[in-house]
Amino acid sequence: MAPAAPPLTPDFAANPYPYYASLREAGPVQFHETLLRGCYVLNRHEDMVAVLKNPHLFSSKLMAAGTTMPKELGEDALRYFLEPKSLLASEPPLHTQLRTLVSRAFTPRRVAELEPHIREISRELIEAMLAKEEFDLIADLAMPLPVIVIAEMLGVEPERRLDFKRWSDDVLLASAMQGTGKDLPRLRQSILDLHAYLESAIEQRRHTPRNDLISALVEASQSAEDGFLTPLDLMAFTRLLLIAGNETTTNLIGNGMLGLLRNPSEWERLAANPSLMPNAVEEMLRYDSPAQALIRLVTDDTEIAGHPIPRGARVLLLLGASNRDPRRFPEPDRLDVTREVQSHLSFGHGIHFCLGAPLARIEAKVVFEELFRRVRRVAFAPGQESNIPWSAAFLIRGPKSLRLTAERHQP
Ligand code: HEM
Repeated sequence: MAPAAPPLTPDFAANPYPYYASLREAGPVQFHETLLRGCYVLNRHEDMVAVLKNPHLFSSKLMAAGTTMPKELGEDALRYFLEPKSLLASEPPLHTQLRTLVSRAFTPRRVAELEPHIREISRELIEAMLAKEEFDLIADLAMPLPVIVIAEMLGVEPERRLDFKRWSDDVLLASAMQGTGKDLPRLRQSILDLHAYLESAIEQRRHTPRNDLISALVEASQSAEDGFLTPLDLMAFTRLLLIAGNETTTNLIGNGMLGLLRNPSEWERLAANPSLMPNAVEEMLRYDSPAQALIRLVTDDTEIAGHPIPRGARVLLLLGASNRDPRRFPEPDRLDVTREVQSHLSFGHGIHFCLGAPLARIEAKVVFEELFRRVRRVAFAPGQESNIPWSAAFLIRGPKSLRLTAERHQP
């Protein structure tokens, strides 16, 4: 039987790993009665890989943001999520067609060309942050960096970045909400404002293309089969690129820093050998994944690890648990920046493998390289260590703020 506690408590948000370990002891597949109105919960690496390799049997339909949004947002707001084609929620052949439209912009080579600019932005943010005696790593660095980078890639004017961040947060909040709330009018307004902005940006690029991602998408839609991408599809695509990489990359930086703060020997190893950074970023992803879970819908009667699973069931893949699976990773609860991390599932697996993974990897690598270049040591600000505010969303994990102090290298 599954351990009873529903994992939506403050203790769970602060540290979900003991719960995952208890699930593992109870067996590879557990039925959880309340989560997602009843779902099968997986905790083993191999079972999740098997599910993610079979997108027709385990459909991504439920990953469309609109499926979890409250009806009270109104039909005019929800249609932006429910009507369009969705990369994240589709299956081949549609998925292949959609992914081809953007994959060129996100190859490791294309993204590597952005590295010098990402470094420049990181340096500016870090200098401003370190000018303060006590700073918030999240608000001062981990949050603005991915927003600035993706907004620039899309071609969003700098003065609209804050709006973009707010809209992005509100869409995520709306899709994580169950039922109603006092925030509903604001969330609804953000959805309408975001789409009004996207609609006019897309229209503008149709007449005057620029060297940015929105123009590339508009161009691809024009050269694709007639009517393949409607204006609503284009908006949904742009919105996905905007939102998918914001909070996740913020949390990679936040969770990674927390891992180093709590494991000072790993900080020292990186300080002594900064060329370990790309490997350290992989280990940070494994050790404390920003994306903790994925949801799939079963399209036919099947079985997982010998357990029958009926058609129509929901399956919850606990990526955070797979990354600590001792059958896959020896001593999984140890952060080890020299570990040869192979196939953690933090970016997913199979056809939906994160499109932005090369970008997220570079952003995190550059941020930590630039931090190590300037700072000898960081420490929790007084009172912070035992009092970290965690994001309440279950699928995404990261500190909402991380107040720190730093000791700079001697000039
Ligand atoms: C897909 C995680 C950053 C764009 C995914 C998936 C995961 C993930 C787990 C698979 C979803 C599924 O199988 O249902 C992360 C993490 C990130 C990150 C942990 C940062 C550390 C980014 C960035 C972008 C991005 C920076 C773009 C700018 C996407 C897109 C997909 C995706 C478009 C859908 C791909 C598809 O369905 O084919 N991401 N992501 N992600 N991610 Fe990321």
